[in-house]
Amino acid sequence: MSYRNKSKMKLGTKLILYYLTTTLIFLLIIGFAVNTSVRYFGMSTVEDQLIEQTISSLDYIKQTIYFQSKFPDNITLDLSNEIGKNLSAGNRIIRLYDENLNLISSYIDGIRQSSFETKIMENNIGNAFSGNYTYVSDGDNIYFAAPIILNEKTIGVFEIVYPLNLLNHILSKTTVVLLVAGILFSIFIIILSFYLARITVKPIKKLVYIAHQYAKQNFKHIDIEGPYEIQQLSGSLSKMGQKTQEYVNRQKQFVSNVSHELRTPLTAIKGYSDFLIDEVKGNEDLETAVYHLNNETERLTKMVNELLTLSRLDSEDEYYNMGKFNLTNLVKNVVDSMTMRATLESISLECFVDEKIYIIGDREKFSQVIINVIDNAIKYSLELQIVKISLLKDDNNVILEVKDRGIGIPENELDKIFHRFYRAQNTKSNKGTGLGLAIAKEIVEAHKGSIEIKSEQESGTIVTIILPISKQLLQD
Ligand SMILES: Nc1ncnc2c1ncn2[C@@H]1O[C@H](COP(=O)(O)OP(=O)(O)OP(=O)(O)O)[C@@H](O)[C@H]1O
Ligand SMILES: [Mg+2]
Repeated sequence: MSYRNKSKMKLGTKLILYYLTTTLIFLLIIGFAVNTSVRYFGMSTVEDQLIEQTISSLDYIKQTIYFQSKFPDNITLDLSNEIGKNLSAGNRIIRLYDENLNLISSYIDGIRQSSFETKIMENNIGNAFSGNYTYVSDGDNIYFAAPIILNEKTIGVFEIVYPLNLLNHILSKTTVVLLVAGILFSIFIIILSFYLARITVKPIKKLVYIAHQYAKQNFKHIDIEGPYEIQQLSGSLSKMGQKTQEYVNRQKQFVSNVSHELRTPLTAIKGYSDFLIDEVKGNEDLETAVYHLNNETERLTKMVNELLTLSRLDSEDEYYNMGKFNLTNLVKNVVDSMTMRATLESISLECFVDEKIYIIGDREKFSQVIINVIDNAIKYSLELQIVKISLLKDDNNVILEVKDRGIGIPENELDKIFHRFYRAQNTKSNKGTGLGLAIAKEIVEAHKGSIEIKSEQESGTIVTIILPISKQLLQD
């Protein structure tokens, strides 16, 4: 069936995957948003502080230069000390450049840097000289530069190099916190989604079980608790089951009644046709007509009897007459009784049986099973072929096997062979009603056994009946 080829993923697994994917996407978005906001607000705070410090520093520089008309030597140190008080992060570098953009002096946290080994962002200094405040960042530091303008003439550049280690530290801390929170949240979501998936899937599993039972014609009444839709579905399924059960019961009752009604007239017809056989001797045409009448009556009687057997097996008032019996003997007897018929059709029966195999079951009904299976093997074999019957036993089971080399069953019909009235396409020339195997299966299953058919068209068929050895027998 086509649904077998579709996804085999269970609903519960799907739900858990959906929950997890949604959570992970949600966590990624939240993580990204928090990280970006922390970076953005951190940077803008740093920027505000730097602008504030730069404005006051520029004022101080201008005043000093105004009075001394050159860059006094200690101006950078003063600024470094002053800014050091106001900016929290350590290792701030304060630098001054002259109008040729040459570095005049550089102080790091109030200490003069004798050699100017610290990185200089020349482009940034150039941009500041020709414009306004400007800054660049290399990830570790932010280089904030501003022009020193006196009497509308730019006479140099003032620069603060501000380390970003504090901000980076906060960012990496935030990332760790987010990661840990994310992992804990995911674990929580996994547990929650398992729980939710279980609650959601539980009533659906019950429905699937009930639907399987219905497919086996076991129409139980169901009332599944769960969400509204599930209750509706279970209600509809239950109604459908009830209706189908009623229909099946009516159909069985009808078949049972009809077969009952047919038995009496059939017995009468058979009686008259038997009587006619003697009466028409000598008249060839009439002999043939009566022969056919007799044959067809027998066939009809067999069919009616099989139908009655099935409807009795279906009805609850048919009891199995269980008892311990010797299956080896039963198989031998049935084979003996059928050998004559097989010989008439030029087929031989070979029987291999383990001695003294006992089972607990209904001997009469079991004999019916063996007859039906051997009857098929003979009926669907070709002349001069051999049918092999074997009965053996292992630790747990008794195994009866009937093997022929006859016409076989087409592969696409194998699964329908146990259906009532079903006959394979290649057997239409043989007489039969298609009830024999249905009866056999019903009886075998009532003995907690199983019946299987392996077959290949034009090669032959193997019917295997497996019966578990009952505990009671093992104790004996
Ligand atoms: N040994 C076999 N070899 C080939 N086909 C078989 C064999 N056994 C069963 N079949 C196929 O299975 C079908 C069903 O078998 P089943 O015994 O139920 O019915 P039947 O033999 O046709 O009629 P009856 O009710 O008289 O037994 C047969 O019609 C035949 O197509
Ligand atoms: Mg049959």
